[in-house]
Amino acid sequence: MTSQASMLEANQRHFIELANAGADALAAMIADAIDRKQERANWPKGRGDADAPLAGRVLALVFEKSSTRTRVSFDIAMRQLGGTVLVLDAGSSQLGRGESIADTARVLSRMVDAIMLRTDDHAKIEETARHASVPVINGLTDRSHPCQIVADLLTMIEHGKALPGLEVAWFGDGNNVLHSLIEAAGLMKFNIRAATPSGFEPAHDYVEQARASGAAITLLQDAEAAARGADVLITDTWISMGQTDAADKRGAMAPYRVDERLMDLAKKDAIFLHCLPAHVGDEVAEAVFEGPQSVVFDEAENRIHAQKSILLWAFGLLR
Ligand code: CP
Ligand code: NVA
Repeated sequence: MTSQASMLEANQRHFIELANAGADALAAMIADAIDRKQERANWPKGRGDADAPLAGRVLALVFEKSSTRTRVSFDIAMRQLGGTVLVLDAGSSQLGRGESIADTARVLSRMVDAIMLRTDDHAKIEETARHASVPVINGLTDRSHPCQIVADLLTMIEHGKALPGLEVAWFGDGNNVLHSLIEAAGLMKFNIRAATPSGFEPAHDYVEQARASGAAITLLQDAEAAARGADVLITDTWISMGQTDAADKRGAMAPYRVDERLMDLAKKDAIFLHCLPAHVGDEVAEAVFEGPQSVVFDEAENRIHAQKSILLWAFGLLR
């Protein structure tokens, strides 16, 4: 990141992983998201925030994979902050015909003020950041989904879950969302019990880094043990974008469905999160998804408020 940072204007930063921000900035992002959300309560969603801090700035949203929430939340976030966006889909741009990441990053840097990229191989976003001279934001790769986790932390806090010492339980696939959650645990000092089938554990480097930072990251195969006494229960699709929907993976995942039995083992005031899109009946039972402990639509809305803080931080303009 050192050579990347030098290509950016003073105070501007890339947001490739949560560690780029660190614990203090992450806490500041969440605090600002809470304040901005409160300041515009009940306003029409398209109305700009009073201070319009990103007036005159344009963000490129580049998608090599599908998206609903990330796409809409960045668009609305930029509008509320006084800026604008343009959307570039790989299939309808030269990226899809093989133009290099390096050239795309350099061209976009001459035309827009920041780039959000959703892609498959994590190396592509690192390469984009190496060649861009404007902030680059990770809108999901096969390896991580940091923007999602800022919204998730905001949702936990809003629902009264102070992060330090929190017991967060994850069920199912050891995927990109779990990696960023583990990264957050190391930064914000909460604990994770991740119940996955054998062979679907999260990547070792995220686990080791978080443990080294003092978070208890427990990897286990017993879903009930993970659920017992948990404050927050989280799952995600069993089959992420770009993965093959294999029958043996579904079979392995079946015991990790978050159902009422698992919710009953958690604390009475536990909440259920899911980044969406959900496959109700697979990774989560309908009774849980639609039940009183589910906060998944607060979580989805919070993508907007989180994106605003991430953008302001990347531009060096967080209050
Ligand atoms: N949670 C999330 O990133 O949703 P989208 O894939 O719809 O952007
Ligand atoms: N793990 C999922 C998250 C979608 C927002 C995927 O990568 O498809």
